[in-house]
Amino acid sequence: MKKNDVIPLKAYTDPKWFDLEMEHIFSKTWYYAGLMEDISEPGQFKCIQAGLNSIIIVMGRDFRLRAFHNMCRHKGTQLLRAEGKAQKSITCPYHDWTYDLEGDLISVPKMSAEFANLDKTCLGLKRASVDIWRGMLWVHPEENPISITEWFAPVENLLGPHQVEHLVEAKDYKVVEEINANWKIVVENYIDHYHLAQLHSGTLNMYDHAKAEFGFAGPHFAFWEPLDEEYAANLEKHTSMPLIDHIPKDQLGAYVPMLFPGIGLGESEAAWSVFHVIPIAVDKTRVEVRTKVMPASDWEFAKYSMRSASFWMKRIKPKYATEDSKHPLGSADFMQEDIYVCEQQQKSFQSPYFELGPSAEYGESPVREHQKVVLEYLKPFVPEK
Ligand code: FES
Ligand SMILES: [Fe+2]
Repeated sequence: MKKNDVIPLKAYTDPKWFDLEMEHIFSKTWYYAGLMEDISEPGQFKCIQAGLNSIIIVMGRDFRLRAFHNMCRHKGTQLLRAEGKAQKSITCPYHDWTYDLEGDLISVPKMSAEFANLDKTCLGLKRASVDIWRGMLWVHPEENPISITEWFAPVENLLGPHQVEHLVEAKDYKVVEEINANWKIVVENYIDHYHLAQLHSGTLNMYDHAKAEFGFAGPHFAFWEPLDEEYAANLEKHTSMPLIDHIPKDQLGAYVPMLFPGIGLGESEAAWSVFHVIPIAVDKTRVEVRTKVMPASDWEFAKYSMRSASFWMKRIKPKYATEDSKHPLGSADFMQEDIYVCEQQQKSFQSPYFELGPSAEYGESPVREHQKVVLEYLKPFVPEK
C-alpha cells in the first residue's frame, strides 16, 4: 500500500514552509500574468505579484512587451499599481524620478543641486522577463531565464489542440474564490483522479473518468479524458455552448493539465479556462478563473443553452440532496464541491489528532508526484525527515 508521506503534514500548516515555497518556487519560475489581450497598446501596463517579486509588464512605443521590477531605483517605492495606461513615461510618486517605457531613467528633480555627478544610465529599472505562450502572458524575475518554450517543452505535446488566440473571453464566467486551504491542497485536488467519479458523480459526469490518461511531464501534470458516450452521442444537441470548431473529432474530451506551480488549464470541447492558484498564506489561497469560448453572438449561446437544458436537467445532480440551500455539496457546482473538501482537509491537517491515511495507488499517484516536485525545489532548505 502506498504511504501518503512524501512531504510532511506541516508543509500545509507551517508558515515557514509557506515562506520557503514563496521564495524558492513562486519567485523563481515563470509566473502566469494574464491573457495576451490584457496588454495591446503602447503604454498599457499590468502589475503582477509573482511570488515575492512585483513585476510591471508594459508595452513600449515600439509595441514590444517589456518587464521590469516594480521598484524605483531611488528608494524602492513601487511605481505602478494594478493595471492601466501610462502616457510616455512612468513617474515614481515619492520624489518624481521618471523612467521612459523602455525602463531608462530620464529625469530626476533638482538633479544638479542634489545629486552631483549622477549617472542616470546606471539607474534604469531592473529588468525582468515577459513572454507569451499559448495566448497567455508570463513573467519571470530574471532578465535571462530559461526560455518559456523550454520550460513548458515536456508538457507541450500533451495539451489540447485549442487555438487560444482565436477564442474570446467570456467575461461573465470570471470566477474569483478565496479558499481557506493551503495552495498544495488546491493543486492536489485538481490533479487527483481518485475523487472525480465520487465527489463529482453528479457534476462532472460528461467525461469518461475510467478512460483518463494522465501523468507528469517534467514538473508539469498532463491529463486527458474522453467524452462520456451518452453525451458524445449527440454532442451538437447536448453541448450547452458552441463547440470549439478546430478540435479534431478524435481529440474531443477534457484536457486538464496543471502547469507548475499552480496554473491549471481546463481545455474542453466548448471552453478553454485558466485556473490560477495564488497562494496568499499557509492556509489561504485565491483562485482566479478566466474562460474563453468560441466567438459567437449571445443569441447563438442562448440557442445552445436552451436546446441542451433538458439533457443537463436530467444529468446534473448535487452530491447531497440537502434542504440547506447554502450547503456546497447541495450546489451541483463542481467548483463548490472542490472548495468544500479542500477547506475541510485544511481544518483536519491542523488537528493534533490527525494522521494521513494511505494513498490510492493509481488515482492519487499525481498527488505524490506533485509533492516530489515541490520537495525537489525545497530540499536544500528543509531539514531531512
Ligand atoms: S523613491 Fe522613487 S523617487 Fe524617491
Ligand atoms: Fe474536483
